[in-house]
Amino acid sequence: MPTNIFRKKSIEKIVADSKSGLDDGHGISLNKVLTVRDLTALGIAAVIGAGIFSTVGQACFDGGPGVIVLFIICAIACGFAALCYAEFASRIPMSGSAYTYSYAAFGEIIAWIIGWDLVMEYAVGNITVAISWSGNLTSFLHNIGLKIPGFLSNSFFDVKSSNAKYLDLVAKHDLKGAADLADMHQLWVNAPHIGSLPVILNIPALAITTFITYLVYIGISESRKASNLMVAFKLLVVVAVIAIGFCYVNPANWTPFMPNKFAGVMKGVSAVFFAYIGFDAISTTAEECKNPQRDLPRGMFYSLIICTALYVLVALVLTGMVHYSKLNTADFLANAFNERGLNFLGGIIALSAIVATTSVLLVFQIGQPRIWMSMSRDGLLPPRFSRLHPKFQTPSFATIITGLVVGIPALFLDSEIATALCSIGTLFAFVLVCGGILILPKAEKGNGKFTLPYINGKFIIPVLLIVAVGFTQWQAPGFFSNFFLNYSDGDATHSATHVFMEKLPYFVFALLVLAIAVAGYFKNFSLIPVLGLMSCFYLMTELGTTNWLRFLIWLLIGLVIYFTYGVKKSKLAKESTPPAG
Ligand code: ALA
Repeated sequence: MPTNIFRKKSIEKIVADSKSGLDDGHGISLNKVLTVRDLTALGIAAVIGAGIFSTVGQACFDGGPGVIVLFIICAIACGFAALCYAEFASRIPMSGSAYTYSYAAFGEIIAWIIGWDLVMEYAVGNITVAISWSGNLTSFLHNIGLKIPGFLSNSFFDVKSSNAKYLDLVAKHDLKGAADLADMHQLWVNAPHIGSLPVILNIPALAITTFITYLVYIGISESRKASNLMVAFKLLVVVAVIAIGFCYVNPANWTPFMPNKFAGVMKGVSAVFFAYIGFDAISTTAEECKNPQRDLPRGMFYSLIICTALYVLVALVLTGMVHYSKLNTADFLANAFNERGLNFLGGIIALSAIVATTSVLLVFQIGQPRIWMSMSRDGLLPPRFSRLHPKFQTPSFATIITGLVVGIPALFLDSEIATALCSIGTLFAFVLVCGGILILPKAEKGNGKFTLPYINGKFIIPVLLIVAVGFTQWQAPGFFSNFFLNYSDGDATHSATHVFMEKLPYFVFALLVLAIAVAGYFKNFSLIPVLGLMSCFYLMTELGTTNWLRFLIWLLIGLVIYFTYGVKKSKLAKESTPPAG
């Protein structure tokens, strides 16, 4: 059994490695062209996309106008995480993002786990975005009279699960609900079949992934120009949505504010958090920045602040323009304007959704290969993952593999599952980054560097915990007392074991919070990272046991790969093994 799996790579060594030449061993290095403006644009490019243009529709439906509260909660959690990312990015200006940060804070095995986990954020996240892109394109073409056959523009498992929901609703005689899914049912039944298997493939999702992969392959400058243009366009449209939509607000639509209480609002965590993901992705371009230690933190803050302001305003305007019950469609934003007779603007929004999702795809396709590149440099992945293209100066092999890992599953995967996995994976990365800051030695304040302000959390953390328990008891009175009781939800009576499994994530959360409160008291933990860690972990608990299980299986697969490959090939392990004899 190897003994060095928790070996840490010191910040000094990471930075020294970077100074001793950021090349791939063949004298080729990444192109340092990005400024703070580019980074802010890249952040916005990564954030505003599939989430606000399509996936949050269901969240608005479940939560009602109160979804605004969820936008604010997610923004606060992301804000704390952004502060921690900023300090790391300022101290470790390297491409691996949370992976590299974890190597310094927790050691190799956790760094591997987080590197593996980031596939959920970048590659799996992009599967959702590619599927959403395809949906946006199809409905845009449909509006101008062009039609792509459904079996060539939908993902197999999306149609399969919609068909199952349709049959379930029909069995329950909910014909109104079933009517919304009738198209999917028809598609499942009428698609060409091989034997009993319907042939349903999302070709536009594969096509856009291939195109973006090509763009990323041929150079960061090309990607930057494309991203800046797309960001300008989508910002213009989002601002127009807010300004014009504001004139059509009917305040009566804001009541009831939380029609399904706080629990209804929290049903949307996966989708709303997904909408915020991306500001952290710019940390993967550290080695392509002119001044990463100064500009990366700024780029993250600026993009997160701009996106938060826009999101809260969009949610406010949208839930004021139309009744929340009309928002559960994939193109709810465009629909809201069509509904109020503004079809022209609805058309522009539909076009903008295509542009916005394209820019998200671009940034995430840039991010994933750069994380693999860092892992490969450390010996945890084969050397070809860090090979740079002699002409384009990009991690060419890793870029192509990213294209395959996103494009092929996008042909058939269930986008709801992919969204939840992306959210849980990203939250886990945020938790580790916040936790990492807690255990790093304090930084010297450097020129232009960002250092997290220190506020002693010794007493504040326990007080906040008591407030949180009180709030939960007020909002969900039976939550603590009924923890192990079985209950009936109208469809079925659930056993005590089922209830326990459902609440398992809350148990884990409660234990973690108590442990941190106690440790924080004795070690004078800094408040901001603790709040980041707790708020992100809390959002994870809201994603449900099934997603936790799927996520744990993914991590287990990662561990098997680490113990069969990485642990033997790790450069750090080799460097620290004394020569034989
Ligand atoms: N935040 C990104 C989006 O909404 C992932 O598409």
